[in-house]
Amino acid sequence: MRDKKSLIIYFSRADENYAVGYIDKGNTEIVAEYVRDLTGADMFKVEPLVPYSKDYQTCIKEAKERIGNAPIKENLYDISQYEVIYIMTPIYWGTYAPELETAIKDLDFSGKIIRIITTHEGSGLANVVSDVKKICNGATVLDDAIAIKGSKAKEAESIIESWI
Ligand SMILES: Cc1cc2nc3c(=O)[nH]c(=O)nc-3n(C[C@H](O)[C@H](O)[C@H](O)COP(=O)(O)O)c2cc1C
Repeated sequence: MRDKKSLIIYFSRADENYAVGYIDKGNTEIVAEYVRDLTGADMFKVEPLVPYSKDYQTCIKEAKERIGNAPIKENLYDISQYEVIYIMTPIYWGTYAPELETAIKDLDFSGKIIRIITTHEGSGLANVVSDVKKICNGATVLDDAIAIKGSKAKEAESIIESWI
């Protein structure tokens, strides 16, 4: 996979986190940077149009309200130059973050390979693989997706290296 032209599409939120208190960089972003360093992939960070609250409990409620309607700051339109797309997301309410869905749902994935990494605090991959398969038309979604516990993101580099 290392020699294929790759793009990481990821969502990640800093601020108050479930298991690690207030953080400057989200867990998924930490893992996404390992993938970038190991593959040379380009990165696209999905940003909510309206930032989530810094407070965890408020963020939880906001995320639920955004399911199915989560505007983002900047859209990706053309991924035609890439062979492999890494989709990386925290688990929010049992699947990908709502903004991640907004970013990927209208892209043309024909002929692309998708690989998935989630970060979570207990749900693992949850429904992400099946939900990505439903919305990413034309893609080959590999069944080797991995889930990293968010609180262990900083220790995940060797796991990511052998997975890649
Ligand atoms: C809105 C919200 C919903 C979440 N829902 C789940 C969940 O359903 N299952 C789970 O295991 N973790 C859940 N979590 C925990 C996150 O998936 C976990 O902390 C993740 O590593 C956060 O990644 P980030 O720091 O890159 O944003 C949730 C966190 C938030 C903020």
